[in-house]
This record gives sequence, structure tokens and C-alpha cells, in this order.
Amino acid sequence: MKVLVVGQGGREHALVKAIKQSKKVERVYCAPGNGGIEQDAICLPIQEDDFPRLVEAVQQYQIDLTVVGPENPLFAGIVDYFRERGLAVIGPTKKAARIEGSKSFAKELMVKYNVPTGNYQVFDDAETAIQYVKEKGAPIVVKADGLAAGKGVVVAHSTNEAIAAIQNIMEHKIFGTAGQKIVIEEYLEGEELTVMAFVDGENFLVMEPAQDHKPVYDGDQGPNTGGMGSYSPVPHMKKEWLEQVKGKILEPMIKGMAQEGFPFKGILYAGLMMTKNGPKVIEFNARFGDPETQVILPRLKTDILDIFKAIQNGSLNEIQLEWDTRAAVCVIMASHGYPKDYEKGKLIKINEPLLPKETEIYMAGVRREQDHLLTNGGRVLGVTALGATIQEAKERAYQGVHAISFEGAHYRTDIAQKAIK
Ligand code: AMP
Ligand code: GLY
Repeated sequence: MKVLVVGQGGREHALVKAIKQSKKVERVYCAPGNGGIEQDAICLPIQEDDFPRLVEAVQQYQIDLTVVGPENPLFAGIVDYFRERGLAVIGPTKKAARIEGSKSFAKELMVKYNVPTGNYQVFDDAETAIQYVKEKGAPIVVKADGLAAGKGVVVAHSTNEAIAAIQNIMEHKIFGTAGQKIVIEEYLEGEELTVMAFVDGENFLVMEPAQDHKPVYDGDQGPNTGGMGSYSPVPHMKKEWLEQVKGKILEPMIKGMAQEGFPFKGILYAGLMMTKNGPKVIEFNARFGDPETQVILPRLKTDILDIFKAIQNGSLNEIQLEWDTRAAVCVIMASHGYPKDYEKGKLIKINEPLLPKETEIYMAGVRREQDHLLTNGGRVLGVTALGATIQEAKERAYQGVHAISFEGAHYRTDIAQKAIK
């Protein structure tokens, strides 16, 4: 099989490497990919949202299957576009992807199908929203309804902070039209976890849980990022919680979406808070998480192309996932200044002999110039290591990080620490 991965980050590099492991794969393409992914796939200089050119490439190279990494092409309808042309593609339709694209849409579905989530209200004018916040008090969470590149959420610890957030989003329009509507939500207290599932519209297979580390600094300090590191499995994820996630969250949501006439096919990501009253949904994503994928796929022993084929055919019920019992830890190396402004073009040096065994580097914000790799984004790369225990995987991942350098490199030093204590 020839497979195309759409996207250009660490998640897509992990997808490319997992697909390369398949017995069925003949060639892997990535569009647009990056200077590091080039080592593992044929990178095509086509942007993620350029559907006509992607289709042209699929036809020219006789690609059998396309896998979509990031959310934006999904929201823009890449899956609908490919299917209308009879091409095989993994991901939800534009309609189903609204589960990530609109927070109010996701909330309405959750309420309709009794999926546990924080209480909330939707507002389209600032004054009523401010009134509501004054009644409810803090802590409280203010979210822009539409897409705000992962930055549209303010966890407000005081009423004034919440009011300022409402004003920024609705009056100063810092997220543009994404802030025409806002969702104000109950603050949920607990551990945050990710559970992803392969879904074929009806059946689903749950992946091993993972935990992301969103804040930029150690000890969960500083602004939220796309994710500074991850690990899997999650030792403090109780069995009964996972059963609840399956039975009370994933199953009703997947059934509900089918009933509504927009069945979900692809990768459903549940961002969860483990509250004292059980797991509750913070958000759904319509795709693989980044950097969760970088610790999940290295542990997946089942041939990923068999899974993708079953998603296509609606036969996931015939597959069982097999997992490597080893733990995986991924540490992200980012540019100085990220998630705010940062410089690009720094030379990346990798001291190969110092890389420990069972370590993979997933390239994200990098580009190639002749024989050199240069930084080209906020999250530059991730080092994932496997180990018999989380402790061992963590030590190896940091040994890997220490073998890599670029000017201003920033990484957290406490990834997976929560799971070790
Ligand atoms: P989201 O973009 O919805 O995932 O929100 C970004 C981050 O804000 C989440 O990863 C949580 O850490 C935090 N967050 C979102 N909603 C809530 C909530 N209701 N209670 C507590 N924290 C939240
Ligand atoms: N790691 C969070 C996300 O992919 O949205």
C-alpha cells in the first residue's frame, strides 16, 4: 500500500514511522511534512488545505490511503472532498469534526446524550456573560466558541479575570470571529488525562490513556502550549475510570453522532478531567493528539494499516488492539520564547552516539538546508523513549534530549514526574 500522511508536526512524524512498521506498506508520503520527516517519507510540497493538489498527488502517485493529522483540513472538509472523489481517507467529515470545531456544538451533544461534562452556558453578548460570571463567582472557565489555535480558553481564578477575558474575547475580539459566541463553564478540579479511540462510525477501540503537559514551565507554571511532553500508560488511571470513559462518554457520544446523521469515523480524542465524581469531558478533538500520539503509537503493536482499513470498512469490532507493556515518555524541545514570539533558523545539533537505545526523535518545527536541520517553529522536536518503567523511559528520554542542542532550546525537566511520585 502507498499511504499519504497530511500534516507537518511531530504527530505526523510519529504516524509516518508507525505506518512504516506495517507489513503492508510499500511507500509513505507526507504533505507537506518537514525537513526531519523527509528521512522517513517522501515529502510533497503541498499545503494541508490545498485539496485539489493533494487529490492530484494521490492520483499521480496512486496512493491508496490518506491519513489526516491536523484539525484545520478536517474542519475545511478534506474528508468530504476526498470521499466525493472516491478516495480512501481516515478522518471525520466536516460535520462530524464540529465536535472539535465548535465548543457549543460539542456541549449540546454531550448534554443531549448524557455525557458527563462541566455545567455551562453559551452567550453571544458580553453584558449578559459578565452578569452570569458575577452570579457564579470564580474559579470559572471562559472559552471562545470557535477556533482560536488552542488559545481561546481562560481558566479564571477571580471574577475580575473572567470579566477581562469576556471583554477581550467579545469586545476587543482578540480571537476575531471565533469569539462571537463564548461558552462559560464550571471549573473542574482533578487530574487531566487523554483517552483516544479509533472509531468506524459505530464500533470503537480505545487506545491506552496518555497524559499531556500543557503549561510551558516545570510544575505546570506559565501559559498553556500545544503540549510540552507526554507519557503513557497512566498508572493513576483506575480501571473503573476507563470503563466509565468507554461506557458513559465514548459509547453514547459515538452512538449519538450516528443517530444525528453524522457518524464519526476517525480518531476521537477525549480530553478528560478525573474529578471526584468520575471522569468528565473538557473537550473532544476530532484527530490524534500532539504530543500524545508520540507516546501512544510507539506502544501500539497492532498493524496500524489493519486498523485504518477496519475504520474504512466499519469492521473495527473484528480487531483487538495489542500494546507494548513498556512505558513511553516524550519530551518536547521548543524554541526560546514559545508559546509567545520566538526566533527561527537555529542550527539543530544531534550527537547520534549519545542517543540511548529505544529512542525516537519526532521532528516538528524544523526545516532542512542542505545537510543541516534548522529550527522552524515553536515546538521543534520531541524525544520519545521506551522503558520497562516510566522512570526508565523518562531517564532515557532526557538522555536523548541532552544529546540534542540548538540555541535557546527550552524543555520541561519534569515530564512524567507525576506518574513516578
Ligand atoms: P481546552 O482548549 O478546552 O482543552 O482547554 C485548555 C485547557 O484549559 C485544558 O487543557 C484544561 O487544562 C483547562 N480547562 C478547560 N476547561 C476546563 C474546566 N472546565 N475546568 C478546569 N480546567 C479547564
Ligand atoms: N495535546 C493536545 C491536543 O492535541 O489538542
